[in-house]
Amino acid sequence: MQEGFLEKMFSLKGKVVLVTGGGRGIGQVICLQLSRAGADLAIFSRSGASQTKQLVESENGNILDIRVDVTDEDQVKKGIDQIFKKYGHLDVVINNAGVCYHKTAFEASLDEWRQVIDVNLTGEYIVCKEAARQMIKNHISGNIINIASMSGHIVNIPQMQAAYNASKAGVIQMTRSLAIEWIDNNIRVNSISPGYVSTPMSIDPAFVPQELLDAWKPLFPMHRMAKPEELCGAIIWLCSESAGYVTGADILIDGAYTVV
Ligand SMILES: NC(=O)c1ccc[n+]([C@@H]2O[C@H](COP(=O)([O-])OP(=O)(O)OC[C@H]3O[C@@H](n4cnc5c(N)ncnc54)[C@H](O)[C@@H]3O)[C@@H](O)[C@H]2O)c1
Repeated sequence: MQEGFLEKMFSLKGKVVLVTGGGRGIGQVICLQLSRAGADLAIFSRSGASQTKQLVESENGNILDIRVDVTDEDQVKKGIDQIFKKYGHLDVVINNAGVCYHKTAFEASLDEWRQVIDVNLTGEYIVCKEAARQMIKNHISGNIINIASMSGHIVNIPQMQAAYNASKAGVIQMTRSLAIEWIDNNIRVNSISPGYVSTPMSIDPAFVPQELLDAWKPLFPMHRMAKPEELCGAIIWLCSESAGYVTGADILIDGAYTVV
């Protein structure tokens, strides 16, 4: 192999990446892997001072941990300003923060519906908008990756989660819309749609009862959930210059769940 070929294709050296909801789960693993690929990081987390910061810094990576609720436009604007103040630029945004509940339409309150739409769809929209505004102002060829879900394509069973499914379908169509809106500004916008991934959202007994885990098991064509690490190759590729012609795409990483 030609020396440095893969590095040239996929290195994120010199890029500043914002990961929302980076304090745990998929967001935490994305931070670690992107830092290993050379990126400087910033995370928006609701608690601040996350374990992610310690993990990235223990490997000599750079990370700025900012306390931001993605549904709060003012906090998002100030958080992005902080990133520009520290690093001078922002190149990639990974909109990962998300919430889910399992309730039927009659059990769920309107507040619960609104909370899911607010975090998963409106939160991603606010972060896309404010990041793109600054990228355009600063003449940055930016790159946005929205974490959607296979639930934006299919209806999960047996749990009922209409708000989550609707929010993720919205993320996929919002992604396509913004890809077209910012195409002449050199900002690429894509989404990733994972199947079940083993994180607190999908395995924490406080959130997912054992009966549900047992019901899911026979539905996985690969007989297991994904590991968060298995999303990162596609994310690194989308962030890199080698995906320069990819925009408005949704990449399903679901172990063929949506195929059967
Ligand atoms: N785990 C799965 O099976 C799975 C499958 C498909 C898609 N996803 C999506 O991947 C993303 C990450 O999920 P995860 O499994 O790591 O879940 P998780 O619950 O482990 O992590 C979600 C993170 O988002 C943060 N967050 C929630 N609301 C926020 C807000 N208002 N502002 C800032 N941060 C907020 C949480 O604090 C948490 O750190 C979500 O968008 C989720 O919908 C997960």
